[in-house]
Amino acid sequence: MPSPDSHPNPSQVATGTAATGTTGTPAPRVIAVASGKGGVGKTSVSINLAAALVNAGQRTLLLDTDLGLANVDVMLGLSPRFTLADVFAGRCELRDTVLEGPNGLMIVPAASGKRHMTELTPQQHVGLVHAFSELDVPIDTMVVDNAAGIADGVLTFCQAAQDVVVVVCDEPASVTDAYALIKVLSRERGVTRVQVLANQVQHAVEGRQLFEKLERVTSRFLDVTLSYLGAIPRDEWLRRAIQRQESVVDAFPSAPAALAFRDIARRSRQWQSPAAPRGHVEFFIERILGQASANSPRSAAA
Ligand SMILES: Nc1ncnc2c1ncn2[C@@H]1O[C@H](COP(=O)(O)OP(=O)(O)O)[C@@H](O)[C@H]1O
Ligand SMILES: [Mg+2]
Repeated sequence: MPSPDSHPNPSQVATGTAATGTTGTPAPRVIAVASGKGGVGKTSVSINLAAALVNAGQRTLLLDTDLGLANVDVMLGLSPRFTLADVFAGRCELRDTVLEGPNGLMIVPAASGKRHMTELTPQQHVGLVHAFSELDVPIDTMVVDNAAGIADGVLTFCQAAQDVVVVVCDEPASVTDAYALIKVLSRERGVTRVQVLANQVQHAVEGRQLFEKLERVTSRFLDVTLSYLGAIPRDEWLRRAIQRQESVVDAFPSAPAALAFRDIARRSRQWQSPAAPRGHVEFFIERILGQASANSPRSAAA
């Protein structure tokens, strides 16, 4: 059972006032972006949400946990000198992996090689906690771009985040895979709230219909609350932005997708305040560790 303090009730929602940690720095909000199915737009959503948050004055770190080809650094035209793999190998410090993206967006690139972050040894996990603790960079929001599927790593990142955004598009496999992801998050990981974002919609009504389709089945079978975050239109400008290796938010600020991302970023700031005790991202890694060792719902690590 999730503990009450890991899921503050909606009356605790305070616009723009995050919980303050022991350091006096507000605890960062962590938003995990996932989908079940690949190719629906997780990386596009992560990059553009992060870009819109940065442009709204939020200190934002984008953590890439997907080892796929079209990853964050490629989409933004950045060339990482180091990744997390180099941190573990002792070749550099975590701060050396942080890339500076557009307008000061911070990016931690996915570790190269075969391992996911959550498949590291316990010692490497501890090393990562220390590395994040030493990363003396104040952060308001961390956006975590996940791999497709429902592998343990994806579930763990979603479980550790305060907010999970599940991206869906109008394809039968997208909706069934989103349901499969939400089901396992709910039943095995104690996640009780999921934000649904419809992507690549042709009309606004299509997004709402997708949400309702998912809602009908989850409300019948699962103990999880879905909220409709909105829809991102299928937008040729977004594809052009990818070709230019930029976010659409920065490359074409008046494009329909850019407007939609800005609106979602604005609303995301009104979600619940994080209930974490610290002012830096180490708490997120600690939650992951707590979950990995206890292998129990998020209450164990809260
Ligand atoms: N809103 C959109 N409008 C148009 N094309 C999109 C949109 N979202 C995603 N795409 C296209 O889909 C492709 C896959 O998106 P991506 O973000 O890499 O998905 P994922 O990370 O889920 O695999 C992108 O390269 C882009 O061409
Ligand atoms: Mg991706």
